[in-house]
Order: sequence, then C-alpha cells, then structure tokens
Amino acid sequence: MSNVGMYLATSSAGFEIEAKKEILRLVPNAEVHSLFFKGNLLIKCPSSTDLISILKENETRYVGSITPVNKAIKISKKKSDLKRVYDEILNLNMLKKGERFVVCCKRRGKHEFTSRDVEREIGGLLEESLGAIVDLKNPAKIVTIQIFQDIAFIGIVRADEILRKEIKVFRKYKCGERPLTRAEHKLREAIRIFNIEIKPNFRVLDLGAAPGGWTKILAGLVDHVISVDPADLDPSVKSLPNITHLKCKAEDIPRNIGPFDLIVNDMNIEPLKSAKIMVKLADLLKKDSVALMTVKFITRNRKKHVSDAIDTLKAKYKDFKVRRLPHNRYETTIYMRRT
Ligand SMILES: C[S@@+](CC[C@H](N)C(=O)[O-])C[C@H]1O[C@@H](n2cnc3c(N)ncnc32)[C@H](O)[C@@H]1O
Repeated sequence: MSNVGMYLATSSAGFEIEAKKEILRLVPNAEVHSLFFKGNLLIKCPSSTDLISILKENETRYVGSITPVNKAIKISKKKSDLKRVYDEILNLNMLKKGERFVVCCKRRGKHEFTSRDVEREIGGLLEESLGAIVDLKNPAKIVTIQIFQDIAFIGIVRADEILRKEIKVFRKYKCGERPLTRAEHKLREAIRIFNIEIKPNFRVLDLGAAPGGWTKILAGLVDHVISVDPADLDPSVKSLPNITHLKCKAEDIPRNIGPFDLIVNDMNIEPLKSAKIMVKLADLLKKDSVALMTVKFITRNRKKHVSDAIDTLKAKYKDFKVRRLPHNRYETTIYMRRT
C-alpha cells in the first residue's frame, strides 16, 4: 500500500482474531496483522481512511486502545539503539521548540533497557536538541514508543488522537476454567497428531505444569505424574491422588526422581533456554522414550526459534517432528525421542 496510515491496537489476549474481524468489518480495505505478543495488532490502511473516527463512531466489542504510529524501526536489545530511535523521532519533524510533550514507552520482550529508561533518555534528548518541554501533566503532544522485541513503533500524536475503547469481551470461558481447558486441548492434539502411545504404567514428568491442564489429562492416563512448576496447581488437579507437585523450577529438580517414560514441557520461557533444560534432564528419560516440548514464539523469527532449539536438543534427542497445533498460534510443538 502506498500512503499508508499505521496504527497499533490492543484486544483482550486470545481474542485477536475477533478484534481483527471487527476492524475489517468496519474498514474492509485495512490490513490487520498480529504482533506475536498476545492482545496486540498492527493495522495498516490508506491514509485517506480516518480509522480513529470510524472506530470511535461505531460500537465495538473486542478492540481496546488504538494509537496512530508514524514509523516502524528495527532495533536490537542493546541500549545503544535508543539513539537511533531518537534520531528517527527527530526526523519525523513533528515536535517544535517550546511545545509541551511527554514520552510514553511500552516495551515487550528482553532488552538492556526499561520503558522508564527510554522515556527518560529520549525525553531528555528532545528537550536538549529541540527546546521542547517535558510536561507530564498537560502535554500538547505525546511521543509514543511501543517496542515489540525487535521492532519499535514510534509516533507523535495529540492526546485526543489516541482512542481508548472499552473491551466488552474478555473470556470465552468462565473464570478459572479457561487456562486449564485450553491447555488440555493442546496436549490432546499433540498426543493424537504425533501418535504417542501412553501406557498406564508410565511415570511422566510435566515441566511448567501450572495450572495443571496437562497434568490432569496425564493423571487420567498413567500411574504417576510428577508436575514441576514454581506456580500453584489448580486445587482440582493438586488433589488428584497420583500426582506429585514439585513447587520449584525445572532447573532445580532433584536428580534422583527418574526414570520417566515420558517428559512433557510447556514452560513459557525462551525456546533455547527450554531446550537446554531438556538436554540437562534427558538422563531422567528412558532410552527411546518420547518427550514433547512447546516452543514459544517470543519474536516473529519462528523458524530460528525452532531450529535453535532443535540444534541444542540434538545432543540428547532424535527423531524430531515439529507441528504447529491449531489450538495455539503463538507456539509450535516439538516431538522427539531420547537417544
Ligand atoms: C503455559 S503455562 C503451562 C500450562 C500447563 N501446561 C497447563 O496445562 O496448565 C507455563 C508454565 O511454565 C512455568 N514455568 C516458567 N518457567 C519455568 C521453569 N524454569 N521451571 C518450571 N516451570 C516454569 C510457569 O510458571 C507457567 O505456569
């Protein structure tokens, strides 16, 4: 698209598709993309389309705030990249001498700086170079910096140009039900798709087990499940007679708790770190037995996350199969067997 207007929008996590449909119903010529951080969408539409007014005037259920942005910049996690962000903000040429402004940063991902660091550093530089004045209470302009791991979206807007809508639908399931239910679907699919044979006499290790969806399914299939997670299990799972909850990190489990016939890992941590833990714990898994690991897409570089993880896992595992299961768009699942 040439002459494109760009916006960032929020929705309730898990309802991005509904929010996307809602936006496309009102603005059919828009492009709406998921940003790989739950509840965040990037909208592009012809600059002649006044997206903010359209969304303001129409009833919506899934869309939260909508912020116009001027540019997307590739960045790394290094603090030195903030200078480039500052240069790009200057290049926008939208802030004048004496103008009152505030810098608002929201950062997602891992970086050498915090959101506050960004606000302070870029606010200070803009004051120095332009003679604009930071005014936290009554700014005429807001410099927005929204960072999604390796992309920074920058914008300069008036406060009334940011639209805040009430999200009316938050959950598909009743309170307390959803995480368990969704996780259960995921494991059932993996067992079916990878054709995993699970025998009643199995001992299973479940890493990153809370709130306990996977543990609950496994406890219905096998003799004993050891569930590892620093977080609490749901009381309905914790009370099952054939589970043991080790309330600690996977890195810290005792080494004498094996052997296991199956290891599953749904920890929401960096894929490479997760793979290294799987390699460290591989000696707890019987030879040729199956392990499952979900790879969380912490950036859009999905292929690299999967290939980095497998390169590490190869030290102790074989027969890799990778499938993106329909129940989760933010991760993929690796099947493997112990060498
Ligand atoms: C997506 S949830 C798991 C959901 C679970 N499979 C279920 O069915 O309910 C991810 C879990 O990983 C846990 N986790 C993150 N880092 C961990 C670590 N180093 N060791 C163990 N658990 C970890 C978190 O506490 C969180 O409960």
